[in-house]
Amino acid sequence: MTKKRTLTGYRPTGKLHLGHWFGNLQNMLQMQHDYDAYYFIADFHALTSDWADPSGISQYTEEMVLDWCAAGLDPDVCTIYRQSDVPEVAELMLYFSMVLPMSWLERTPSYKEQRAQITTKDLGNVGFFLYPALQAADIAIVLADAVPVGEDQLPHLELTREIVRRFNNTYGEFLREPQAIIATQGARVPGTDGRKMSKSYGNSIFISDSEPDIRAKVMSFMTDPARKLKTDPGDPDICPLHSVHKLIAPDEEIAQWDACCRSAECGCVMHKRKLADDLVSYLGAFQTRRAELAAIPGYAAEVLAAGAAKARPITSGVVAACRELMGLDPRTELTAGIERRDAAAAAAALESHPSFLDAE
Ligand code: ADP
Ligand code: TRP
Repeated sequence: MTKKRTLTGYRPTGKLHLGHWFGNLQNMLQMQHDYDAYYFIADFHALTSDWADPSGISQYTEEMVLDWCAAGLDPDVCTIYRQSDVPEVAELMLYFSMVLPMSWLERTPSYKEQRAQITTKDLGNVGFFLYPALQAADIAIVLADAVPVGEDQLPHLELTREIVRRFNNTYGEFLREPQAIIATQGARVPGTDGRKMSKSYGNSIFISDSEPDIRAKVMSFMTDPARKLKTDPGDPDICPLHSVHKLIAPDEEIAQWDACCRSAECGCVMHKRKLADDLVSYLGAFQTRRAELAAIPGYAAEVLAAGAAKARPITSGVVAACRELMGLDPRTELTAGIERRDAAAAAAALESHPSFLDAE
């Protein structure tokens, strides 16, 4: 039986933090074994917001490969690639832009929020407006069934399903409607200031942070804002420090901190010191492995080259099929002869093609 496909992407606009680690990476680690998995670095997406200063993209791309692989993604098991190495995705986005009403993009919550919140970058460009269309193309281009993401990405997944439905209604049932896979714990990991941990907010603990940095950041973590004095009872349910500790400590230990905080027996500083100790030892094995991979010359470039070679037979096959379903002339042997709207023939042509099957 062929495995279902999964895909997800991260923008190379910063280092990986605990929000990625718990909100997403743990699912990706498990899913690389259960699915035919495609994980990519979304450098086109990074350009949509960082077009005026793209200087960090290349370095963050390499760092992300190291972070992912040190965390346990195995490039022999899953396919790790860079979005711009698969330019077919830009072609599919163009096709999606034909069926996609502008009003669907205008109402995307992330578009409205980020334009309002991010004032240091010019987000008035068309590329940023098309961000969700590009994301839909990323997902559809490998016919992904399941997409592990954090909670903030749900509107993008819903839009992807809508675009796929509209495409299929117009040109025949070919593309798949993907499901979002959300972490059961850590769907929205808070940062040091209590907002969602995000590299854009300067509130992140990065998984490659040094021990002194981890300790300093944990000491600045926000706790229950109503707890002014150590003698005031605290409420762990609204304490961001508590939410993060829950992700790494055993349930019994968390229950003890919970009771200790509610009765004001333990202060926040004591709790912070414990979380800092726990995080330093929790991330130790990852950091050792990361240093080993970083010492291998050309490691990231090799992973990306191998990943692109595995992904492209699929992405070019899917794009060729979409092109012809939409009525443009065939130009590959793969889908030659498929009639417009004959989606069943397109799917069958791909499924029986050796390069498409080999990739699974
Ligand atoms: P950032 O918000 O730091 O720029 P990305 O947009 O690159 O992060 O996110 C990559 C993936 O990690 C997405 O699936 C996103 O939903 C998830 N993610 C990011 N931050 C968090 C968080 N604080 N909690 C849970 N998931 C997160
Ligand atoms: N928008 C995602 C984020 O900000 C990144 C992304 C781009 C993505 N393309 C994707 C995630 C496709 C899942 C599937 O994190």
